[in-house]
Amino acid sequence: MLIREAAAGDWPRIWPFWHRIVAARETYAWDPDTSEEAARALWTGPGKRVYVAEDDTGAVVASAYVTANYGGPAARVANAGFMVDPDHGGRGIGRALAKHVLAAAKADGYRSMVFNAVVETNPAVGLWTSLGFTVLGTVPDAYEHARHGPVGLHIMYRAL
Ligand SMILES: CC(C)(COP(=O)(O)OP(=O)(O)OC[C@H]1O[C@@H](n2cnc3c(N)ncnc32)[C@H](O)[C@@H]1OP(=O)(O)O)[C@@H](O)C(=O)NCCC(=O)NCCS
Repeated sequence: MLIREAAAGDWPRIWPFWHRIVAARETYAWDPDTSEEAARALWTGPGKRVYVAEDDTGAVVASAYVTANYGGPAARVANAGFMVDPDHGGRGIGRALAKHVLAAAKADGYRSMVFNAVVETNPAVGLWTSLGFTVLGTVPDAYEHARHGPVGLHIMYRAL
């Protein structure tokens, strides 16, 4: 697998799984009906450093972004998002991408990373915890999960 910074031509390869993941209403606090144009701005807009993972055939199977979570004097706290194509999940791609992105964020000068809204039922919580993130707090019943109904949103943190 190759992890590299995204190029402009990668977006059409990210969008199909981006849409599938957000439309599922299980993991991201974005409108399940987000248009492709709005999705592109959310994932690749100004200030975002975007990564993709390619499998052995050159197919884009995952993407991540990193950006500053706050501004001004707090701009060295990063935020990031991760998506692995569900057809390629559970094979270690997410963990490899996360490790790469954490190292890259540190190299870019970020001191820590914060996830603002991790759905508490998301198996990703186990991945983030295993990578050193802790739950700072939980907003109760904040997320209308497609299958579980109202569930909490964790704020997660890790020093880099
Ligand atoms: C979360 C996500 C990025 C993980 O990517 P992945 O390639 O499927 O994950 P990996 O195969 O690298 O697994 C890493 C760990 O995640 C956990 N995990 C991932 N999917 C899981 C599942 N369906 N059930 C249980 N645990 C799971 C396991 O703890 C696993 O640990 P291990 O490495 O010890 O086996 C991916 O499932 C995804 O894109 N989900 C939808 C979007 C999302 O939730 N993004 C994160 C928002 S906070």
